[in-house]
Amino acid sequence: MKKKVIAYNRVEKPVLEDLQKRYDVEFFKNIDTKKDPVFLKHLSQAEGIIGLELVVDRELLDQAPNLKIVSNVSVGYNNLNLDELKRRNIMATNTPGVLTDTVADTVFGILIATARRIPELDQFVKNGEWTSEAVEPDQFGTNVHHKKLGIIGMGRIGQAIAKRAHFGFDMDILYHSRTQKPSVEEKFAATYCELNELLSESDFICLITPLTPETEGLIGKREFQLMKKSAIFINGSRGKTVVEQDLIDALKAGAIAGAGLDVFEKEPIDPGNPLLKMKNVVSTPHIGSSTHETELEMSKLAAINLEAGLNGEKPPNLIDSSVWEMHK
Ligand code: DGY
Repeated sequence: MKKKVIAYNRVEKPVLEDLQKRYDVEFFKNIDTKKDPVFLKHLSQAEGIIGLELVVDRELLDQAPNLKIVSNVSVGYNNLNLDELKRRNIMATNTPGVLTDTVADTVFGILIATARRIPELDQFVKNGEWTSEAVEPDQFGTNVHHKKLGIIGMGRIGQAIAKRAHFGFDMDILYHSRTQKPSVEEKFAATYCELNELLSESDFICLITPLTPETEGLIGKREFQLMKKSAIFINGSRGKTVVEQDLIDALKAGAIAGAGLDVFEKEPIDPGNPLLKMKNVVSTPHIGSSTHETELEMSKLAAINLEAGLNGEKPPNLIDSSVWEMHK
């Protein structure tokens, strides 16, 4: 009998079809995972889960007595209760590496779009408002090149952003992260500093740290007040690393000049959210890694992780390797 696997939200089609040859895979999307009877039935038999942003908490795990592995199709894993998974000896994996450059491109794209007001001016042209040959100063943006970029979180993606900023845009780089990274400082002429200094010195502040209990609400009222009035804030991490109401207040009060946001406290964002009415906010629907090529690579890597776990082998991207020690 084929092993049961749940695929959730996003697994690229060729990967899903390939998995279906060897496993009894059921795909679910947009369901209430606490109530959907078909999902709960499969969950009770599933040995593996592969997918994006499925909230794996105690309640879900109570319904999954046969589960061996949860394979995230994402680098972030804030959807997983790692303590509870470990307690039950269930492996969890993510997809680092394959999306690094794509997410860095997205973040940098949003940064430029916000600084140069590209979406707003695109709308201006399309609305037929471009009537005089030369645009007026109130349509001017601000330079990106040669400015100071503060990066909060200097993991793989932070480093890929630093690379673009240093080699492509001659920017000065400040960074703050859990550990100081001498090799990054050398490669990209980056300077480590405390968060307060980064916030008050940077022209662009780019948040790219994972969401953890330590980083939840990391940027709020106090932090926005420390920023320059001309600062542009970019969030490419998770919505909950920012106190969204404080961001809204800071933008309304002119405490910062603008924001580029790929992630939000609630996703999909509520259409009534004031951020969506602000011209100095550029928003994208959590598309950090969403290119055809990268999503395929992520699905492939997640499938490799899943199959290893199902076959009793060590998955290459185990999040907490102490769980493997218990399996051995
Ligand atoms: C990731 O991989 O974490 C991306 O943000 C998609 O969720």
